Amino acid sequence: MSNDLTITDLHPSVDDITGDVLRGLSATPKHLPSKYFYDQRGSELFEAITRQPEYYPTRVELALLADCGPRIAAAVGPRAHVVEYGSGSGRKTRLLLDALEDPVAYTPIEISRSALTASAERLDREFGDVEVLPVLADFTQAVPLPTPSRRADSALVFFPGSTLGNFSREESVRLLAAMRDTMGGSGAALIGLDLEKDPAIVEAAYNDAAGITAEFTLNLLRRLNRDLGSDFDLAGFAHRARYVQPEGRIVTTLESLRDQVVTVEQQQFAFARGESMQVEQSQKYTDARIGALASEAGLRVVDGWNDACDWFGLRLLRRA
Ligand code: AVI
Repeated sequence: MSNDLTITDLHPSVDDITGDVLRGLSATPKHLPSKYFYDQRGSELFEAITRQPEYYPTRVELALLADCGPRIAAAVGPRAHVVEYGSGSGRKTRLLLDALEDPVAYTPIEISRSALTASAERLDREFGDVEVLPVLADFTQAVPLPTPSRRADSALVFFPGSTLGNFSREESVRLLAAMRDTMGGSGAALIGLDLEKDPAIVEAAYNDAAGITAEFTLNLLRRLNRDLGSDFDLAGFAHRARYVQPEGRIVTTLESLRDQVVTVEQQQFAFARGESMQVEQSQKYTDARIGALASEAGLRVVDGWNDACDWFGLRLLRRA
């Protein structure tokens, strides 16, 4: 990292993993939060998922960003302060920064210090003219942005990957409202959304033939065994991902393959054979669905671009 690259630490509260897991296992039906997928192994497995032939979202979004760069740049305008929610592999950020006209600054917002440092360092090395101003914070709340040394004309919140789809409806509205606060009056948000399509295509993306998604899902139990000392038997559960209609979302569960008891923090939880525990949802969008979410958050969709097959979309949102 260059010497003048400093992290603004907003001291995000640490996750209550024990409380979240005990609450989820005590509920009927049982569920676990998908945010705990992403330990180091989980993040590596997710990267591997994005390279599977069946998992189209990453591939299609990258091509879409490359294709509509000039149109996005025209809609956003010059001298933007790009604010990325989370930090992915950096490939999408690179395409966006390359396309925009004279971007002033780049702020990744991340709750994990190591992921934040890695993405900030990478982008700082590659984009000498863009000031990198990382913020350690929870992006589900409004984040006061650091001030770039060169004046920015607007802030552009970038939230690719259809990650919005992993949040519940209420959480999505809250997250969009937080974006509205972060972007300010003249700002915008550019969001990547996986669109509704033939269920067979979507289901295949979450049930890849190589079994990487199944490994990713089961890794959640491995992580809990390591971090909470639980005794989930990974061979006793199976990954299931189904496209649920009319909600238009993938619901991923772990199905108990036999009657069994799991101990977490000295508490016992009985699973019946065939019992399903939800571990993730992945919403697919129509224009009506994103329009309704945006309007509940005080935003409106002002522009949008889809790939040629309408599999994946980018939407530009501004204050309503
Ligand atoms: C990160 N997120 C948008 C992925 C998705 O498609 O919902 C996570 C994922 N889960 C299984 N495969 C990919």
